[in-house]
Amino acid sequence: MSTFAIAPEAISTSTSDAVAREVREGLTATPKTLSPWLFYDEAGSYLFEEITELPEYYLTRTERGIFEAHADEILQTAALGQGPAGKLTLIELGAGTATKTGILLAAAVRQQGSVVYQPVDVSETALAEASENILNNIPGVTVRCQVTDYTREALPLNRLPNTRTLALYIGSSIGNFTPDGAREVLRNLRAQLLPGDTLLLGTDLAPFAGAGAPKTEAMLLAAYDDAAGTTAAFNMNVLTRLNRDLGADFETDNFRHKVLWNPTESRIEMHLESLVEQTVQFPAFGGTDAFTVEFAQGETIHTENSYKFTPAAVEALLASANFKATKSWRDPQHFFAVTLATAL
Ligand code: AVI
Repeated sequence: MSTFAIAPEAISTSTSDAVAREVREGLTATPKTLSPWLFYDEAGSYLFEEITELPEYYLTRTERGIFEAHADEILQTAALGQGPAGKLTLIELGAGTATKTGILLAAAVRQQGSVVYQPVDVSETALAEASENILNNIPGVTVRCQVTDYTREALPLNRLPNTRTLALYIGSSIGNFTPDGAREVLRNLRAQLLPGDTLLLGTDLAPFAGAGAPKTEAMLLAAYDDAAGTTAAFNMNVLTRLNRDLGADFETDNFRHKVLWNPTESRIEMHLESLVEQTVQFPAFGGTDAFTVEFAQGETIHTENSYKFTPAAVEALLASANFKATKSWRDPQHFFAVTLATAL
């Protein structure tokens, strides 16, 4: 029977105090930065779900298309080398509402009759939604939700006897880390795995990667600056969050969403640009003293990086965390790659 369990003791310790410290550090630095995880309050998580359905945001539907075309082969390849009685357990980092994961879970059930799925995310509500969707739609899946910030806390990997782990890190989430940060996340994951366990990594590809690929810089920019303004609202929402959670006095009309392609770093950057010279006040909060932030006209807060990889860069990143890339699947236009890697 399928079960749903959230371990209350595992609920993230990321309190508003930690938020206040991190915000102060980022906004008093030069250049000014805010962590992209600040996007995902309730409103931001909802806006992100909307982004994934935008016509310009090709990432989600392209990765879903790869899963639809290759899920059985992906699961078979991950199971290679398992003993006859050995089963794969799937764990997913940053699972969110796990909308695409169902395709892989259904393939796992076809292959091995049943599967245990452990989604890990900071958002309890997203996990509850994920669990409900999966339990209602895919018989044979046991869901064990885990509310944890996998970027800051130890990954809770409950290994079952006679199983191997297939870790899913999909949706291009790895692209929101700097190269050092990405290596750290994968090394932390690797530390929880046994040799022979596998990782399925979803990465958005750099423009022009692959033979004759038609991916252009304009396409990338549009994906992060859509016509409906949903990504702009997602970016701006971080200021509303700081006003609400930390009592800051950002005038959101005094900022605009700005997106640029950084070819040297192979990344999309999102910024919030100050339209005027202005001062923003933060009152004292918990252990953090009151502070002010001065903005020159045109100065930006760098809110997100979204790295785009060449296939060689994906392999190198995996190797730096002691994984060996074994097989990669791409969409016909080479927009996105899903790479299976074995823990060495
Ligand atoms: C979650 N992450 C993979 C998204 C991305 O594409 O980097 C976040 C996002 N930011 C703007 N649009 C989507």
